[in-house]
Amino acid sequence: MTTETKVETHAFQAEVGKLLDIVAHSLYSQKEIFLRELISNASDACDKLRYRALTEPKLIEGDPGFRITLSLDKKAKTLTVSDNGVGMDKDELTGILGTIARSGTQAFVEGLSGDGKKDKDKALSLIGQFGVGFYSAFMVADLVEVVTRKAGTENAFKWASDGRGEFTIEPATRDTRGTDVIVHLKKDEKEYLEPARIEHIVRTYSDHIGIPIVLAGDGKETAEKTLNTASAIWTRDKKDVTDEQYTEFYHHAAHAFDDPWMTLHNRVEGVVSYTNLLFIPSMRPFDLFHPDRTGQVKLYVKRVFITDNCEGLLPPYLRFVKGVVDSEDLALNVSREMMQHNPVVAKISQGLTKRIFGELKKSAEKKPEDYQTFWETFGPVLKEGLYEDGDNRERILELARFKSSERDGWISLADYVAAMKDGQDAIFYIAGEDAEAALASPQLEGFKAKGVEVLLMTDPVDEFWLSHVGVFQEKPFKSATRGGADLAKIAKAKDAEKAADDDADKADDKPAAPGMDQLIAAIKVALGDKVKDVRPSERLTDSAVCLVADDGDMDINLERLLKQHKQLDGRNLAPRILELNPDHALITKLAKLAQEKNAKDPALDDAAFLLLDQARILEGEPVIDAQAFAKRLSKLMTKGLA
Ligand SMILES: Nc1ncnc2c1ncn2[C@@H]1O[C@H](COP(=O)(O)OP(=O)(O)O)[C@@H](O)[C@H]1O
Ligand SMILES: [Mg+2]
Repeated sequence: MTTETKVETHAFQAEVGKLLDIVAHSLYSQKEIFLRELISNASDACDKLRYRALTEPKLIEGDPGFRITLSLDKKAKTLTVSDNGVGMDKDELTGILGTIARSGTQAFVEGLSGDGKKDKDKALSLIGQFGVGFYSAFMVADLVEVVTRKAGTENAFKWASDGRGEFTIEPATRDTRGTDVIVHLKKDEKEYLEPARIEHIVRTYSDHIGIPIVLAGDGKETAEKTLNTASAIWTRDKKDVTDEQYTEFYHHAAHAFDDPWMTLHNRVEGVVSYTNLLFIPSMRPFDLFHPDRTGQVKLYVKRVFITDNCEGLLPPYLRFVKGVVDSEDLALNVSREMMQHNPVVAKISQGLTKRIFGELKKSAEKKPEDYQTFWETFGPVLKEGLYEDGDNRERILELARFKSSERDGWISLADYVAAMKDGQDAIFYIAGEDAEAALASPQLEGFKAKGVEVLLMTDPVDEFWLSHVGVFQEKPFKSATRGGADLAKIAKAKDAEKAADDDADKADDKPAAPGMDQLIAAIKVALGDKVKDVRPSERLTDSAVCLVADDGDMDINLERLLKQHKQLDGRNLAPRILELNPDHALITKLAKLAQEKNAKDPALDDAAFLLLDQARILEGEPVIDAQAFAKRLSKLMTKGLA
């Protein structure tokens, strides 16, 4: 029987081709990060095997000590990164290294489509911080070979590519489990054959790796040498870890490329003991609001990596937090699935949550400006906790920041309450798609005129928590577009202050405009059940009309939001209240007409519909009947011109 050597040739997935093209032509100065990426993969492979060996100890029999070995061959001009980790079988080798496996890289490539030249510049500057994983080897290599043997199997395979569209797979030999990545260096990349240079790179980027990274000796003069500290970074004393080392670990553990906004490194001893090294990123990940987005904290048990997706380790509204938790109090043989409902995990979760809130509060107090950048990035996620986590509601309310109608910048609810007017007994807010739209709402006119502050709620999540959270410091939240906003009471309080030096100010007590009652009666008859009520408004100063929701009914903006998300079907909506501005020339004139005609005139009928339609347009809603609207408007304009 002859053993034929089967070499298979495969084409890269199109995105990989594109990525490789950019990487290969990279003039990027920080090419050295390729080594960080290869070491990071070797370390991940060891973590994976260590976990599998918990249930299948045979897998590491005879070679339980994980390590990464770097070998330099000046003659062959190769740098080899070897590990005794989990390895890959043939399918994995073909699938994983021929396609873009990690979501971050996928996003990176998607971000590149379009303007070629600009993209390339952007890409080059990103590669350094971000790394493009395994493929970054092609920045320095004209050939990369991967020889690998999966733990527990007998066969090894070799993957090889020059990075130009194709790769080959063939059977190979490897005496033990693990992977060698053989980097054939380009002509002008010989610096990566110098031991001192390699040592420097490892210390800079990979010192945090928890297993030894060994530079192999040459078998004659130089002995092998361990280059890193080789203890998991979170097990070290805080004072022995530099900011740069934390950042490098964050890049590795979180697959992130920004700098951490906050680092929380603690050892907790008690009923449950654990160490946490958590990071709050400074940038919002692109998939933060993706429904499949899960937690990003890796769970270790006694230094053994268990899972990076432990449900229940942190509440979903803290899903932006990344990092590592390591506990001695969990059994190593507990399966990943069992972790989710484990009481120890629940205890750790409570402790971590409390710690995170504590640190956020400190930051909000001590570095308010810095805190605001956090709030702008992750506030909308944190606010989900207001309805998901009753126990922490007060803490989140304290941390929440809002834009307001009266001040620039962000304010807290405590700031708001402190500035409430005499006679004001509610926290007023208005919801809208953005601050500009909310500020333009006619319902705000009366508040602005009286200097009553209104909070602008512009995140979709606001509508949901507002319906769960009734009060803050015993003050109820109240929408400015709803019910009686009690502006008169506030105004009176203001007048009372003024009354001392200005007796004549009776502005708010003036009698209703003549004919108002008849006008309201006429409009009610004309509109029937299209409105819930018609009444004079306290909140309008410039506009003639506006719509408000009755106290028990759904807020106007919530209704719009639900409609947009097709959560609401138009038929069962409560009709709105139409409010009239008694000081507006149009309303006073109509009132006069109503008085003269004793509320009966066809012109009043048309006016009623036009007023309602106008109020709807102000809300960004369509008119009820576009044809009828156009007809009435033409009629009125013709009259006006006659
Ligand atoms: N040394 C290795 N041992 C085992 N598998 C590896 C090794 N290097 C790379 N891989 C596989 O290739 C995949 C892609 O690596 P990479 O491009 O760095 O992305 P990432 O590390 O983010 O997954 C890894 O997820 C892993 O499955
Ligand atoms: Mg990687």
